[in-house]
Amino acid sequence: MFTLISCIGKNREIGRGKQLVFNIKEDMKWFRETTTGHPVVMGYNTWNSLPGKLKNRENLVVSYKDVPEADRTIKDLDEFIKCHKDIEEEIFIIGGGMIYTAFLPYAKRLFLTEVDATADDATVFFPKFDKSKYSRKVIKKGKDHDLTFTIVQYTKK
Ligand SMILES: NC(=O)c1ccc[n+]([C@@H]2O[C@H](COP(=O)([O-])OP(=O)(O)OC[C@H]3O[C@@H](n4cnc5c(N)ncnc54)[C@H](OP(=O)(O)O)[C@@H]3O)[C@@H](O)[C@H]2O)c1
Repeated sequence: MFTLISCIGKNREIGRGKQLVFNIKEDMKWFRETTTGHPVVMGYNTWNSLPGKLKNRENLVVSYKDVPEADRTIKDLDEFIKCHKDIEEEIFIIGGGMIYTAFLPYAKRLFLTEVDATADDATVFFPKFDKSKYSRKVIKKGKDHDLTFTIVQYTKK
């Protein structure tokens, strides 16, 4: 099964060029703890924005070109989705915008850190989704300096 995990602003903003728009320490910890031990799938731009491989996770990178430093390159995205959408193992889709958009229709679960702020200069966004098709459960609320946020689990009905 696929689970999308992301940190989004009030307008679903997630990135600016290669950078994240929000850097919340507790969210990073939540991300690390939640995804550790599971395969993570990311687009090449997101891979390129990281300092290196994410530890203790199989790093799968979606790209039309070979990415030798990754654990695996996914070149045929449709085939990957077809083969993995119904398996029991949880695969985390960790961004960015293009990859969230491709996987959203097949994801059973979304973990969204909803930040109560906007970033006017954002260039990358989480896709729109119909919240009425998901049940919503708050996992935790927090505050980091002047940013308040809520970690929410959306499960497809
Ligand atoms: N807030 C968050 O939670 C969060 C999480 C992750 C990322 N981000 C942000 O999101 C931004 C990056 O997102 P992005 O949308 O620009 O890029 P992305 O989704 O990370 O990667 C896009 C790349 O993936 C490859 N790709 C996409 N569709 C493909 C397909 N069907 N088949 C094969 N390869 C495919 C292409 O790579 P090639 O050109 O190599 O073929 C494409 O350029 C950054 O700003 C990052 O900081 C935010």
